[in-house]
Order: sequence, then C-alpha cells, then structure tokens
Amino acid sequence: MALKDKVLNNEVPRHVAIIMDGNGRWAKKRGRGRSYGHEQGALNIKNIALEANELGIEVLSVYAFSTENWKRPKDEIDFLMQLPKRFEEKYKDDFKEKAIRVVFSGRRDRIGEDNKTFMEETEEKTKDRKGLTLNICFDYGGQTEMLHSMSSIAKKVEAGTLYAEAITLDTLKNHLYHPELPAVDLMIRTSGAKRISNFMLWQLSYAEFYFTNTHWPAFKEKQLQKALLNFQQRDRKFGGLLKKKR
Ligand code: FPP
Repeated sequence: MALKDKVLNNEVPRHVAIIMDGNGRWAKKRGRGRSYGHEQGALNIKNIALEANELGIEVLSVYAFSTENWKRPKDEIDFLMQLPKRFEEKYKDDFKEKAIRVVFSGRRDRIGEDNKTFMEETEEKTKDRKGLTLNICFDYGGQTEMLHSMSSIAKKVEAGTLYAEAITLDTLKNHLYHPELPAVDLMIRTSGAKRISNFMLWQLSYAEFYFTNTHWPAFKEKQLQKALLNFQQRDRKFGGLLKKKR
C-alpha cells in the first residue's frame, strides 16, 4: 500500500506544527546565500500546506520568524520581512482553489505597517474558507504569546469586567492569539536540532515530537507522510492511562 494510503487509513492529527529549520545550511550546501534558502523555504510551505490539506489535517502552524530572530543581521531580517507579501503572490490562487484559510500569530507592532495591513486583509479575505487553516507564526514567541494573554486578562480585571477569582486555564487559553485553534498533536522540527525554541509553549503541552535531519527546503510531501505514520504508531496518554492496547 502506498505510504499516503497507509496514513489515510488511520486517524490523522488535527493540528501539526513545524519548526522550519535549516534554510541557511541547505543553501550553503548548494553554494548559495541564506536568502535563497529562505526563499525556497517559503515556497516549500505551499507544497506542505497543500499536502496537509489533502491529508485532512485541520491546522498547520509554521514558525516563520521568531521574537528572537531580530538578533540576525539587518539584511537577513529585511529579506524575511518581505516574505509574507511575496508568499501571497505565489500561493493565493492554489489556496483559494483549495479553500485554505490563512491566519497569523505573533506581535504586529514591530513588523511594519505593510505587513500588519497585509495580515489583517489576508485573515479577513480567507476567514470563511473551510479547508486547512495555515497559521503563520511571524514575530512569534511562545512566552510573548502568554504575556499577551496575561496582559489582556489583567486589563479586564483592572476595568472591572472580570473577577480575578474567575480566571481559569480556559481564560488563559481564550486570550491567546488564535484561541479557536485546537492544541497541537504533532510538532515536527527539521534539520537535526532537538529543542522547542520558544514555539507554541501553551499549545504543545501534550504534542508528540518528531525530529528529522532533513533541512526544511528539502522536507517534501513524502517526509510529511512519514512523520504522520510515525505519529500514528504512538500511544498518547495525556497524563492518564492507556485506553486500549494496540
Ligand atoms: C530557520 O533556518 C528558518 C528561519 C529562521 C526562517 C524560516 C522562514 C521561512 C521558511 C520562510 C517564511 C515564510 C513566510 C511566508 C513568512 P535557519 O535560517 O536558522 O537555517 P540554519 O539553521 O541552517 O542557519
């Protein structure tokens, strides 16, 4: 049976999150600059999002720019800042045809007015689509997202619209950037490193982790299927006991 059919024969994860690492190393191996790696990495998001949509995954989150990436050289940052807009030009037709919704998670106050407007317009334009939701994490940090949630809650308490005693885990979750997105089931990190790097700290609480040495621009549809098959062989307990023996 083809790998894809095997995957489709089992339950697919609702939410897959990817740390797209290794663009720079991939480009270097080909004697090219880091920007070329990022460009090809951005193009790869389209292929993987279309495949995820076909496999029936509900949400795909990708880590495109972290709150720590501001430490990189200015020319690399300038290049990465242009990618959301360039991304839309190359993907918009396919995404429309497949009813893919696009949302962005992250700070919007340091990425320039153009990016901010673009994100608002894209979210509005695609909001009623029923296919995959592609969540692009941009100027995103898991700790900053929790701070954002806590500050929003504190403002409500200060304004007298929320009692401090009424704050629950759900309150915290409901003030994250996109509370409507389900918890992450599978987190994939490409390019060999085995760390979370401040990605979706709240949503990853019970995620399964999958690491591969493949650099992000070389991570193709088959690799996604392989990761899903591996995920389908795991026993998830969520802190409890196993429900059934395989
Ligand atoms: C990590 O590789 C990758 C990034 C920091 C950027 C990832 C960005 C994209 C794939 C494109 C973003 C697309 C949109 C639509 C905004 P690295 O540069 O750390 O590679 P290295 O570890 O090999 O140096």
